[in-house]
Amino acid sequence: MPSPSIGVVGSCNVDLVVRCADLPRRGETVLGEDVVRLPGGKGGNQAAAAARLGARVSLMASVGTDEAGDWLLSLLRELGVDVTSVHRTARATGTAFIAVDHAGENQIVVAPGANAELDLANIGLDRFDVVLAQMEVSQAVIDAAALRSRSFILNAAPAVPVDPETLARCAVVIANEVEAESFDSSKLEHCVLTLGARGAVHLQRGREVDRVTAPTLEPVDTVGAGDVFCAAYALQYALRVPAYQALRFAVAAGSLATLALGAQGAMPTRTEVEQWLARA
Ligand code: RIB
Repeated sequence: MPSPSIGVVGSCNVDLVVRCADLPRRGETVLGEDVVRLPGGKGGNQAAAAARLGARVSLMASVGTDEAGDWLLSLLRELGVDVTSVHRTARATGTAFIAVDHAGENQIVVAPGANAELDLANIGLDRFDVVLAQMEVSQAVIDAAALRSRSFILNAAPAVPVDPETLARCAVVIANEVEAESFDSSKLEHCVLTLGARGAVHLQRGREVDRVTAPTLEPVDTVGAGDVFCAAYALQYALRVPAYQALRFAVAAGSLATLALGAQGAMPTRTEVEQWLARA
């Protein structure tokens, strides 16, 4: 199987994760377990997941010159991600504050820090088969990436308004149901909606063309499952796998990613996903 090249443009965060029985409601305080420090950020997660799945991956991100930045980059290097284009800045590395409940559901607040300083000047993006980006970096970075990529996939997460011209340049837009409220999917050639435990659908110009149901699993932590889904879909897209097969592979990869704590705690390899699909 060939190994496509994927450029990931996005955030790198330290995830400070606390498990609790139930997520707090607005204005409520709940007690949780001990805090765990884990690697995260949608960009870092998607780069790590794509590398685990066998792609050649380069990350375009911005982290601090602090210990947290060193730590995140060393973990990505260990996975084989090329981090030579990652920008270092005096600003603190991004941090995500994450609560995870007994059912694996989560709440996340991100302090972007160094992520806000990502700049793609002098970085060639047309060398990648696919560029994959998310919305935890500036709109200007996303617009530039869409303009300069041969094939651009946008994970419209978190939910923020996206320039319609940038959306029109996307080969595929991937979003969950909440994020999809911030754009008109009927104006997009290809949009993939992730439905959590219910799976995912592929819409073409707003019309459903494929649907895959997720397997029944007992999730430990759903943080990062969407990132694994996006990385798996981008890999399949780069390999020119038929759309239904790509969706099925991505749903399986995203589901398997929920089986351990942490965004990068249970990222499957391509073989693990294929073996799981063969058994399903
Ligand atoms: O998608 C999950 C990620 O969102 C977490 O790792 C956190 O850092 C936030 O960026």
